[in-house]
Amino acid sequence: MSNLIYYNGQFKEKGEVYIDPEDRGYLFADGVYEVIVAEEGGLFKLEEHFARLERSALGLDILLDDYKGLQEAAVKLLEGSGYPKAKLYIQVTRGTETRNHAYSDGLKPNVLMMVSRLAGNPAEYFQKGVKVITVPDERWSRCHIKAISLLPNVLAKTKAKREGAFEAIQIRDGFVTDGSSSNVFLVEDEIVITPPATNYILNGITRVVVLELAAKLGYLTREESISPDRLFAADQVFLTGTTTEVMPVCAIDGKKIGSGQPGRITMELYNAYRELLTRQ
Ligand SMILES: Cc1ncc(COP(=O)(O)O)c(C=O)c1O
Repeated sequence: MSNLIYYNGQFKEKGEVYIDPEDRGYLFADGVYEVIVAEEGGLFKLEEHFARLERSALGLDILLDDYKGLQEAAVKLLEGSGYPKAKLYIQVTRGTETRNHAYSDGLKPNVLMMVSRLAGNPAEYFQKGVKVITVPDERWSRCHIKAISLLPNVLAKTKAKREGAFEAIQIRDGFVTDGSSSNVFLVEDEIVITPPATNYILNGITRVVVLELAAKLGYLTREESISPDRLFAADQVFLTGTTTEVMPVCAIDGKKIGSGQPGRITMELYNAYRELLTRQ
């Protein structure tokens, strides 16, 4: 296994990578990122992740020229890693300059990519479902940008972990937005429902795949606002995300959801998703 890291056009050993203390990513969390998984089929939804990376960067006025070249370097990095199941992290920060809130035009972004082994979630989580909690959404109003400034998400996920829960579902102005690192779905009368892709959620690549799979499997899908009461009363609730996959939720804030077991439609979607991920 090789532990090479890509940094600004070069492949290096981790210990050889020098991050400048004046990198705006380090000082201001001024940057964007992506996480992509790979199993037998290679990097899953590579194009979609890179398209979102570019959209996120443009949304913050971070200008990077060569996304195609970067994508090729990502494939090379993955192939060199030798991991059968891997997770690729890509980060683009605005660049390096003397600390000042206002940034200069024409800064050269710093690009980091690293691969790690993908452990995956325990099989038991998918068999029994996971417990989650709800928390107030304390993020900014441009959540559609996958920015590295993740403090509210970090605090929410840690609260969940400390309470023995898998994830924290965020609530803004009386409606469900995202998990701290996942999207939220419910099933009501066999209809698959998720909040609309506004600026208040990150439009997950997995979210889009699952909406497509649900339609292919013959289920009606809807993107509409979901109140916490509606979530608690749902027949099934599940989370989606690159590393979360399709995760059944059995309880929210200690209240049982549906039968308290992973729902049939949730597991159909889980199986369809796994098939796609390993087959492509
Ligand atoms: C806030 C948030 N919502 C949703 C997701 C799921 O997105 P994806 O399916 O692209 O991994 C993530 C992923 O990290 C996230 O951070």
